Amino acid sequence: MSNPCTLKEWIVFAALALEGVVPSPRREAELLLRAFYNEDALWLMRHEDTLLHDTSQLYEWVQRRAAHEPLEYICGRVSFYSQEFFIRRGALIPRPETELLIEKILLHVNIEENLTFVEVGIGSGVVSVVLAQHLPHARFIGVDISTEALSIAQQNIDKFGLSERIELRYGNLLSCITEPVDAVVSNPPYIAADAVLEPNLSYEPEQALFGGKEGDETVQKLLREVLRRRIPLFACEIGYDQKQKIEASLSDFKIQSLEFYKDYAGFDRGFIVRLEDGAKQ
Ligand SMILES: C[S@@+](CC[C@H](N)C(=O)[O-])C[C@H]1O[C@@H](n2cnc3c(N)ncnc32)[C@H](O)[C@@H]1O
Repeated sequence: MSNPCTLKEWIVFAALALEGVVPSPRREAELLLRAFYNEDALWLMRHEDTLLHDTSQLYEWVQRRAAHEPLEYICGRVSFYSQEFFIRRGALIPRPETELLIEKILLHVNIEENLTFVEVGIGSGVVSVVLAQHLPHARFIGVDISTEALSIAQQNIDKFGLSERIELRYGNLLSCITEPVDAVVSNPPYIAADAVLEPNLSYEPEQALFGGKEGDETVQKLLREVLRRRIPLFACEIGYDQKQKIEASLSDFKIQSLEFYKDYAGFDRGFIVRLEDGAKQ
């Protein structure tokens, strides 16, 4: 569009460019503009007649969004647990339902204890960061097979001043863990290899999404490893159709408690299990 234009005019232009790509083009156009200026809705209302002189970068943002790139990757920020984290391509964009995983853990542990947690598949680091904020005496080891994800996690750990309590390691599942552990937490990849996904998901790393042919292979491998090492507590997000197989895998083990939980849409989304004879390995 020709320069200069007002914010109001720019929104109309951007909404047109997003027509047929996103469900609410005008809202998306406003969100793009707010993210670009890092401002809220009130600011936008107050400045709708302000002139924009150089719209070239904004135009690039609209083009990226029109190509289905998620807004979070475009602006480099994501909101999780009411806080703002760094994000970029290379790590999964944290999803709201993963906040439930955090809540389940907080209900199952003693906040005063000096626990050692391992987060398998730390991604952008949001889960360990929020847990560390709520569990002031706990220490965390965040593992990932993606060096790109580990570097994004490190940025978030530094942003929240938690580098003393969250250590990062490159590794496959628990292979790099040799010390005693109290709890494992994970939001592993759990989508089936042949699943047909929305176009925006093509921007996210495949290794963060796909858990194998059936989808639950990574979850099951991790569960077996946790059981073999008799790690006392394991909390894990799963796919909506994976509950029965998890129950079957746990049927031969002495369980103190096993709770499955649902997401906001009512689908099975995770479980937290405490082993009866669990012990730090
Ligand atoms: C679904 S993402 C979760 C990221 C982050 N914890 C969150 O909840 O937003 C899964 C993460 O697991 C990592 N991952 C996949 N397979 C793994 C494996 N075998 N060992 C360690 N990490 C793995 C991926 O690289 C990705 O960062």
